[in-house]
Amino acid sequence: MNTEVLILVMWVCSVWYPQLVTSQRCRDGYELSPEFVCVDTDECETYGDPALITALCGSYTLCHNVPGSYYCTCQQGYVSPSGTTNFTQRTECEDINECQSVPCGSNATCHNTKGGFRCECDKGFVSNTGTPSFNTTMNYCKDRDECESSPCGSNETCHNTEGSFHCTFDPGSASRNNTTNHSEGKIAL
Ligand SMILES: *[C@@H]1O[C@H](CO)[C@@H](O)[C@H](O)[C@H]1NC(C)=O
Ligand SMILES: *[C@@H]1O[C@H](CO)[C@@H](O)[C@H](O)[C@H]1NC(C)=O
Ligand SMILES: *[C@@H]1O[C@H](CO)[C@@H](O)[C@H](O)[C@H]1NC(C)=O
Ligand SMILES: *[C@@H]1O[C@H](CO)[C@@H](O)[C@H](O)[C@H]1NC(C)=O
Ligand SMILES: *[C@@H]1O[C@H](CO)[C@@H](O)[C@H](O)[C@H]1NC(C)=O
Ligand SMILES: *[C@@H]1O[C@H](CO)[C@@H](O)[C@H](O)[C@H]1NC(C)=O
Ligand SMILES: *[C@@H]1O[C@H](CO)[C@@H](O)[C@H](O)[C@H]1NC(C)=O
Repeated sequence: MNTEVLILVMWVCSVWYPQLVTSQRCRDGYELSPEFVCVDTDECETYGDPALITALCGSYTLCHNVPGSYYCTCQQGYVSPSGTTNFTQRTECEDINECQSVPCGSNATCHNTKGGFRCECDKGFVSNTGTPSFNTTMNYCKDRDECESSPCGSNETCHNTEGSFHCTFDPGSASRNNTTNHSEGKIAL
């Protein structure tokens, strides 16, 4: 080993070795590994217990580790009172009332839930996918064709209407003289 190389090695050791071992200090957000290397501290992992995450970030939050630090966000369906998206200060996130933005469309009733919402079609309407309730804006309520299930009697004709139906007596039937039509939606489905 020639002199220059030796001096270089000594310089490297004198500069770096004390930093890594003698002082045993890393920048904030980093910690010394068993291999004497400064590695990122995963603050979220340290506080992996949901109760501790809540203590660190606040209620209804998520913790995100980044090199040398971390930040918190509100869980989906929640918002911070100050409106900030990324924060490190403990924040109590609040439920968003999605129903205020009319996400269900017409002929539906919106129910706000913790972190979300649920749409239920009004009586006489059914969702386009046939599910009784939904929570995406891809879905909507459409008229249910009650006549498909033949709710009227024999010698009667079913008339579907938006949100309802009614039955009328056929011409010439025995019931024809009965002046009372089935009232709208009288027959429950
Ligand atoms: C929040 O942090 C993420 C990840 O660093 C970043 O992509 C996003 O732009 C940040 N949002 C705001 C509003 O600062
Ligand atoms: C269904 O919604 C449309 C559009 O808002 C409205 O005009 C109609 O009256 C509604 N029908 C019923 C039965 O509520
Ligand atoms: C939508 O409904 C599904 C199933 O009930 C649920 O898992 C999800 O969290 C809901 N999303 C919202 C935004 O309400
Ligand atoms: C239906 O009409 C036929 C022929 O008009 C009649 O014989 C029958 O009794 C009627 N049935 C009812 C339930 O009105
Ligand atoms: C309807 O009533 C009138 C008078 O009561 C009767 O003459 C007629 O035959 C009835 N029609 C039917 C289809 O029952
Ligand atoms: C007329 O039709 C209505 C509805 O079906 C029924 O409730 C009523 O009993 C009928 N009246 C007579 C006189 O047949
Ligand atoms: C029965 O319904 C038919 C069709 O909607 C209508 O033309 C008729 O006037 C109704 N009759 C009565 C007595 O309500």
